[in-house]
Formats: sequence, C-alpha cells, structure tokens
Amino acid sequence: MSAGLFVSFEGIDGSGKSTQARMLHDQLLSEGHDAILTREPGGSPGAEEIRALVLNGAPDRWSPETELLLFTAARRDHLERTVRPALATGRIVICDRFADSTRMYQGLRGGGLRAQVDALHDLMIGQEPDVTILIDVDADAGLARAVARGGGEDRFEAFGGGLQAQMRQGFLALAQEFADRFRVIDGARDMDAVAADVRAAVAERLA
Ligand code: ADP
Ligand code: TYD
Repeated sequence: MSAGLFVSFEGIDGSGKSTQARMLHDQLLSEGHDAILTREPGGSPGAEEIRALVLNGAPDRWSPETELLLFTAARRDHLERTVRPALATGRIVICDRFADSTRMYQGLRGGGLRAQVDALHDLMIGQEPDVTILIDVDADAGLARAVARGGGEDRFEAFGGGLQAQMRQGFLALAQEFADRFRVIDGARDMDAVAADVRAAVAERLA
C-alpha cells in the first residue's frame, strides 16, 4: 500500500483556509485523485463533539491547560479514526488546521504553553503533515473576512484583533521553524490566484 499524502492548511481566522482546502479538494477529485477533506478541531464523530465544547461559550470557559488537553484529545481521535486509516490506504488527506494551530493558539496562551504543547504532541500525536500550506493575510483582513462570514463558533474570535496580529507573526515564525514542510502563500489575492499557488505547492509533493 502507498503512504498517501497529508496536507494541512494553517493561518489566522478568516485567512481563507477553509475556502482553499475545499478548492484543493475539488481540484484533486476532478483530476482523478483519491482525496478526503477534513478539519480540526473535529473530523471524526468524537472530535466533533469536543469541537462543540471548546469553540462555544465564554472565553474563560476553559483554562489554557484544559483547552490544550481538549484539542489534543480531539486530534488523537481524529488521527486514529480518520487521518491514519485514509493515509494507510494511499489517500490524500486535506486537513483544515492541525497541530501547528495548537502550537500557535495554545502555545501563546496562558503565558506561553509551547513546551507543554510540544511534550503532549510527542507523547500523544507524533505525526506531522507532509505539506503545510500557510495562507498568509494581515490581521485586519482576516478579522474582516471572519466577521463578514459570521457563524456562531466565536469563542476564539472574542480574543480580539491584537491576538490575530500576534498569531500571524507566530505562524510565519513556525513556517521558518518547519521550513521543510511549510509553504507560505499570499492570501490577500482573489481566490483563484491563491488556489493556483496552493495546487502548485502540492504538486511538488505529489510528483
Ligand atoms: P478561514 O477558514 O481561514 O477562517 P474562510 O475560508 O472561511 O477562512 O474565509 C473567510 C471568509 O472570507 C469567507 O466568507 C470566504 O468566502 C472569504 N474569502 C476566502 N478567501 C477569500 C479571498 N481570496 N478573497 C476574498 N474573500 C475570501
Ligand atoms: P476554525 O474552525 O478553523 O476557525 P476559522 O475558520 O475561524 O479559522 O477553528 C476554530 C478555532 O479553533 C480557531 O480560532 C483556532 C482554534 N484552534 C485552536 O485554538 N487550537 C487548535 O489546535 C485548533 C485546531 C484550532
């Protein structure tokens, strides 16, 4: 059996990750590839239940440490039940956010939990994507798009624009830390132009 290909999308809220993940999935299917589209937190029935717990409610509903455990629990279930079985049968897995989101969001919260994030990742997850597409937009553009899109899962958006700017810089730093798998794509263009660059970045790994 072939090993499949694991592609993740990262970026701040409203950067256009979900749009680009969907467009890549459609494109790959139309080319005859066997690809699945999934997301975090979520992507399996149990992880979707955890998603509802962690994305709804007041910003202080969970401590940063409890939140880290919930995201990691959701990821473990998603890996066991969705991601690994698909990769094992040679499929392309396209995932809207993965462990880099935890490195950023939980890593920056609670006065900096990055060491705990990395330790838990090593202990319970131990898997990185083959390719990570960072859709890069500035914080104001991301916030404007996220607000225009609406939708109820707003516990994180309540943390505000200053955090978004910090997150953007954090994601760019992660792209340098994991330069072998990250591809940074300018998301401040029309969707089709962004999608063409995404497809080209994935083509490097599919070849
Ligand atoms: P994310 O998943 O990163 O939060 P979405 O893909 O949901 O972002 O996009 C947020 C909003 O911005 C959506 O309403 C989407 O239609 C819109 N959008 C996405 N990409 C672009 C783009 N390149 N130009 C303009 N609007 C966009
Ligand atoms: P998502 O549905 O991708 O939101 P958006 O489309 O607005 O980008 O993710 C929901 C929120 O969950 C988002 O604000 C980031 C946060 N998140 C974490 O804090 N840690 C994680 O490990 C993941 C996967 C997401």
